[in-house]
Amino acid sequence: MTLSTADLRQKFFDYYKSHGHQVVASSSLVPADDPTLLFTNAGMNQFKDLLLGTEKRSYTRAVSAQRCVRAGGKHNDLENVGYTARHHTFFEMLGNFSFGDYFKKEAIEFSWTFLTRELGLPKEKLLVTVYTEDDEAFDIWENHIGVPKEKIIRISTSDNFWSMGDTGPCGPCSEIFYDHGEHIWGGPPGTPEEDGDRFIEIWNLVFMQYNKQADGSMEALPQKSIDTGMGLERIAAILQDVHSNYEIDLFQNLIKSAADVVGTTDLENKSLRVIADHIRSCSFLICDGVMPSNEGRGYVLRRIIRRAVRHGYKLGASDIFFYKLVSALAKEMGNAYPELVDQQPVVEKVLRVEEEQFSKTLSRGMAMLNDALTSLEDDTIPGDVVFKLYDTYGFPVDLTNDVAREHDLKIDIDGFDSEMAKQRERAQKASNFGADYNARLNTNATSTFTGYTETAGEANVVELIADDAFTDVITDGQDGVVILDATPFYAEAGGQVGDSGVLNVAGGEFVVTDTQKMGNAFAHFGKASGTIKKGDKATVTINAENREAIKKNHSATHLLHATLREVLGDHVAQKGSLVEAQRMRFDFSHFEALTSEQIEQIERRVNEEIRANHALTTQVMGLEEAKEAGAMALFGEKYDDEVRVVTMGPFSVELCGGTHVARTGDIGLFKIIGENGIASGVRRIDAVTGEEALKVVQQQQAMLNRIAGSLKTDVNTIVERISALQQQSKDLDKALSAAKQKLASQQGADLLAQAEEINGTKVLVAKLDGVEPKALRGMLDDIKNRMGDGVVVLGIAGTEKVNLIAGVTKSLTAKVKAGDLVNHVAAQVGGKGGGRPDMAQAGGDKPQLLDSALDSVNGYLADKL
Ligand code: ALA
Repeated sequence: MTLSTADLRQKFFDYYKSHGHQVVASSSLVPADDPTLLFTNAGMNQFKDLLLGTEKRSYTRAVSAQRCVRAGGKHNDLENVGYTARHHTFFEMLGNFSFGDYFKKEAIEFSWTFLTRELGLPKEKLLVTVYTEDDEAFDIWENHIGVPKEKIIRISTSDNFWSMGDTGPCGPCSEIFYDHGEHIWGGPPGTPEEDGDRFIEIWNLVFMQYNKQADGSMEALPQKSIDTGMGLERIAAILQDVHSNYEIDLFQNLIKSAADVVGTTDLENKSLRVIADHIRSCSFLICDGVMPSNEGRGYVLRRIIRRAVRHGYKLGASDIFFYKLVSALAKEMGNAYPELVDQQPVVEKVLRVEEEQFSKTLSRGMAMLNDALTSLEDDTIPGDVVFKLYDTYGFPVDLTNDVAREHDLKIDIDGFDSEMAKQRERAQKASNFGADYNARLNTNATSTFTGYTETAGEANVVELIADDAFTDVITDGQDGVVILDATPFYAEAGGQVGDSGVLNVAGGEFVVTDTQKMGNAFAHFGKASGTIKKGDKATVTINAENREAIKKNHSATHLLHATLREVLGDHVAQKGSLVEAQRMRFDFSHFEALTSEQIEQIERRVNEEIRANHALTTQVMGLEEAKEAGAMALFGEKYDDEVRVVTMGPFSVELCGGTHVARTGDIGLFKIIGENGIASGVRRIDAVTGEEALKVVQQQQAMLNRIAGSLKTDVNTIVERISALQQQSKDLDKALSAAKQKLASQQGADLLAQAEEINGTKVLVAKLDGVEPKALRGMLDDIKNRMGDGVVVLGIAGTEKVNLIAGVTKSLTAKVKAGDLVNHVAAQVGGKGGGRPDMAQAGGDKPQLLDSALDSVNGYLADKL
């Protein structure tokens, strides 16, 4: 009965396909359009609107294997992984669906047939549950399928009423259980022993009938539907005759690879399960565009990676290992999920970078934690320790908890929370400088924006602000804010800066330096000359030249965004932007610095799309419609129901409220001037367009010309010229050091002539000038070689320092030790030294005393030689 996990998945598809079901690919782990869900956690997520009846498709029956993550959110299994036989952060849910097509009878029949005929599970091993009131389902099981009464269990709790969340589609359900046999402890569902491992739920059939409202009431759905879910790993375990999901083929292969890369042979070690589980969730999350970060989905990913890394470290991994498992996973699951194979290099890089970063603090953090463990007063790790591990060493709380659990300890989570709160308060205090003008003043006025088509116009002054208060007049020379009923001035939004320009009224003019939104009104910030009064009629004109430059930069950010996804991959997501007249800045998720080839390629592609001269169109439409048209929306950004979609030929479609060029050719030229990292996993590109881009190119050319001029060559041969100069400088260095050595050896010979004899032994004591301290050692060796037996002391007096060296030939070290000798001198010049009996060095800080110190050497030696 052994069927591989991959074959099982295929068999499921084939069976339902033969019953008229459309095979639908798994949707992303990042749920589209559902802010209530952290990660996709059930097969029905992508069909929510079909179940609600608000969306129709060409099919009414579907089958899927949905990748699901249950970590970090409402369903959080992270902390159980490694401790139980069936918990996973990532799993696949097999499901069949009916959207207003078949209902209970067929759903039950299909599932029973699939299990007993297609998979051949013995009927007597199965039992089922129904919701207490669901007589219809009971009857189908009993009379239509023929399951004995005592094996149909009525359950009254929420276990048999499934809902996606607090609101949304829901209904009673019926579950199928498998009896793993008497040798395993546990009782049937509904009994006090139900949590044992003997009876395992394998399939949940949900009869979707209601739409739960926020007030708890149940509204009937327009049509009755079916949603089912069967964990692929569980059913595989049954078919492969193993008890734990971790014993199925797929996991066994991953566990073996994990053992290989961390270097252990203990295949039963639970940490291997943790790693095998976590490589699946981490790889698929990265495939779906999640990047490790310090918030939201990215932080959940980071927590899982770090937990896996910590377990590898526990197993004795001595090097970065986690990313090495991506290829093993691609081998296991790449057929079913080709995106995993496509994105393998990206996933590997992200995991490698993250592990490298964490491994820098992991061992220090573990050392601190182990210290803390030895000095515990009770069975709880204090909150401040948990916080320090989090804040300084990057240990997510659940990682510390994982360690605690291994030692039968708890963590003080309240203490941790209060440390966190304190830190947040400190951060808030630190950021409370600089009052926010907009936050303090509010207006009910509304301004109509005319700037998509106009650069000037007529308007009425509806509100004025000066000295932080509403006023009727702004006087000559005063700074203030003017609010108009209509304006062509763009108020800062979506990264595009506010417009500047001028407002003319009968009594004067107001020079606008910035425009910001204030509620539904546009607020023009600037300075008055003459008098501006509330109620004035104004002629308003934006700085059109600036606006033109801004438009070019803004349109270029869209081209850049699409290009980055094309060149670097779909994991690129916009993280921020700044669009000004002089330049543009674009922040995006990516895990490593771009190479110069990538930068060139990006520039080339953007400029190709500029030259393609796409006409730019804008259209206001419903958010859903826009997304269907493939418009790129910013993740986490809140959009109105009506959105503006900016399209540049087939190349770029984005939701955007900004101002843009008419055709991409208007941008002229696009040039990147900088690329760097601004946070972990986030890169920033600075670029210029149009006139500014030309200026940059010209400035660079001028600089090259200047360099060429001072190198006395032309621009084309600068590189060769510089290499030649570098070589020349190397040669000179070599020649110089050879000359120095020769000089030193010459000096050595000269010095030797000055040697005196004390009691028949040659002694040379000399103060040297113009010799590098570094050369002392060589000189000493040289002199010793030439003199035969003897004693040498050499000294250099610098402006603040003394350098000393003493040498005693081997034959004399019984009488005089070089260390003692050099110390005798050093002590007199404020220093101390050390070395071997035949050679010792010392320093000192009293150069003025060197002469007298050296004079004392002969006397010192006279006693000893
Ligand atoms: N949506 C149902 C579940 O997740 C099938 O159990």
